[in-house]
Amino acid sequence: MDRYAVIGNPVAHSKSPQIHEAFARATGQALTYERLEAPLDGFVPTVEAFARGGGRGLNVTAPFKLEAFALANAHSKRAELSGAANTLKRESGGWSGDNTDGPGIVRDLTHNLGVALAARDVLVLGAGGAARGIMSSVLAEHPRSLTVCNRTFAKAESIARLFAAYGPIAAAPSDALAGRSFDVVINATSAGLVATSTPVWPPASAVTGAFAYDMIYADRPTLFRQWADANGAKQTADGLGMLIEQAAESFFLWRGVRPDTAPVFSLLRPEGRL
Ligand code: ATR
Repeated sequence: MDRYAVIGNPVAHSKSPQIHEAFARATGQALTYERLEAPLDGFVPTVEAFARGGGRGLNVTAPFKLEAFALANAHSKRAELSGAANTLKRESGGWSGDNTDGPGIVRDLTHNLGVALAARDVLVLGAGGAARGIMSSVLAEHPRSLTVCNRTFAKAESIARLFAAYGPIAAAPSDALAGRSFDVVINATSAGLVATSTPVWPPASAVTGAFAYDMIYADRPTLFRQWADANGAKQTADGLGMLIEQAAESFFLWRGVRPDTAPVFSLLRPEGRL
């Protein structure tokens, strides 16, 4: 049987095995899907051993997305633009790298949640790897504007420069957002993941009336969603839908079959969208 896995450190709590096993059952694909915890300094040997053992594909999670990109000898355009790979596929000449995070969030927003990005004013908070991973996909939806705001402004500026050729993207320092409003606000910071880090959010008006989407997922309101709700966001969602959609895109890359994601969302969160 073809072997697949999620590789990360830590990886014990990953929901990917459950998601891909559900996809495989639903589509009648014969495969196994496991968790691979690579030592922090042992990503490449772990991947090589997996390939020798019949490994056909990997989902890559923190902290290895950059190393996965470096290991791959072919890349999709969107992986190239993000400089990171969350999906590896075994080819005859080695690994090809892709990044399905962008398609994942766009599909969750536009298809599952009915939130259009086209002709809308979109604000992305954060300018790290997570933000970079979704920029080209968000711009491909043709927003009216895409503003990047980050605690460290210089990083927002460099991400805006990097993607300037792909659409109307601009960096804005936090205080420049006072009084401005947006249709969609996406949290791509890691604030809320680490309990010890107090989040730095932009002025409240930025989220008032907006659809607020947190790329982080949790079975309770994340810090970003609490902030968005407290400041009059129209609606909020966490990133569980994105996680499932990026997995579906990886499954499609590996198997050529696109699984239905709605039953998997219900499986992971029977109580529905929180
Ligand atoms: P990731 O791969 O999750 O994007 P990263 O590359 O380390 O991780 O980036 C983390 C992002 O979250 C950065 O944009 C970071 O802001 P800085 O560039 O100023 O470091 C942002 N971030 C982390 N903690 C934050 C906090 N407490 N408040 C606001 N932004 C925060």
